[in-house]
Amino acid sequence: MKISPVKSSRTTCYKSPYKENILYGSNPICSNKINFTSLKQTTGNENLFIDTAFYRDLPTLLGFTKLMHEEFPNGADIMDFACSNGEEAISLYSLINDKDAPKYKIHCYDTSDKAIKLAKNSIYSVNNYNDDYFLLYSNNNKLKSDIKRCFNDLMEEISPPDIKLNDERYVEYVKTFNIFFNEKYFKLKDQYKHNFKFEKGDIRNILNIQPDKQVGAVFFRNALYHITSNHVFENIYDKQTIDRIWNTDKYEAIQDVVDKVYEKLLSGGFLVLGNDEKEHIYQVDKYTPKDEIFFDENNKEYLRLKSPLLKALKKDGKFKPVYTSTCKTEKMGDFKVYTIWQKVEK
Ligand SMILES: C[S@@+](CC[C@H](N)C(=O)[O-])C[C@H]1O[C@@H](n2cnc3c(N)ncnc32)[C@H](O)[C@@H]1O
Repeated sequence: MKISPVKSSRTTCYKSPYKENILYGSNPICSNKINFTSLKQTTGNENLFIDTAFYRDLPTLLGFTKLMHEEFPNGADIMDFACSNGEEAISLYSLINDKDAPKYKIHCYDTSDKAIKLAKNSIYSVNNYNDDYFLLYSNNNKLKSDIKRCFNDLMEEISPPDIKLNDERYVEYVKTFNIFFNEKYFKLKDQYKHNFKFEKGDIRNILNIQPDKQVGAVFFRNALYHITSNHVFENIYDKQTIDRIWNTDKYEAIQDVVDKVYEKLLSGGFLVLGNDEKEHIYQVDKYTPKDEIFFDENNKEYLRLKSPLLKALKKDGKFKPVYTSTCKTEKMGDFKVYTIWQKVEK
């Protein structure tokens, strides 16, 4: 189907009537990445997703576990910002801790009331449409079956709960294809609940949260776009969001967070980022130097030649990259990105 371009002065967005009508009804916002929307619920604003998965970017979680065990063998606190509904924290806990004697305390924060409410319920849906589908099946792969065992140590399967866990529109959409849809429900076992505390919190306010404490690691995965307004390759064409993409100084927004995280970390501590493309490929904004702009012919999008994220992290030699993972994109293929950065003491 031919799609019609909607041009603004700096980005070219493509509006797909197919997606608009079928997936989002009359809402004039659509996502070209069905997977990204995921079955998880969204926040009130359609462009801000709280989607997540158990063991998302598993290589980074495993790499992080090893680095923490080496750097902080006696344990350390971890702050998990953008914790969403808690799947990230449960995954991390199951990998890094002895389940009954946790040395790495995980404090969880998110700006979304909805996410915190879901997290406090500790009830989850796992389905074959998400990265954590392997938790539903028995596996020949040793790593996957070990992970599944860690998961089952903490979680128990339950019958369908009364509360809504999924984005119902998405479920309906998936079902129109008559594709096999397998879903199971899990609950965090009661004896582990006290190990997970979820509070409303914004990473931009990190220095005022437990102000006397420094921590071994800060997670902020797949959430930077919430503060940079970077919606690369998304079919966004509502004026408000397009204006935000253009008016937000992406570098400044990232630098602010990076500087605060640096202060919050213990010497040798880690900042853990996501591998989503919105974390690593940046749209231009009005502050982008002209010689750093290029027009990506294939995707009809103005992008930045230099990553403001790398620039902010490397400024004054504050952080060094210590772990790479794969960023998988539909539009630009797969490439390696740094997902774990270590604080370098001055
Ligand atoms: C796409 S989800 C990512 C969840 C999880 N970290 C993961 O990688 O699977 C993004 C989450 O970031 C949260 N968020 C956005 N801005 C935030 C901020 N400034 N501080 C803390 N959380 C934030 C949103 O509410 C949302 O739940």
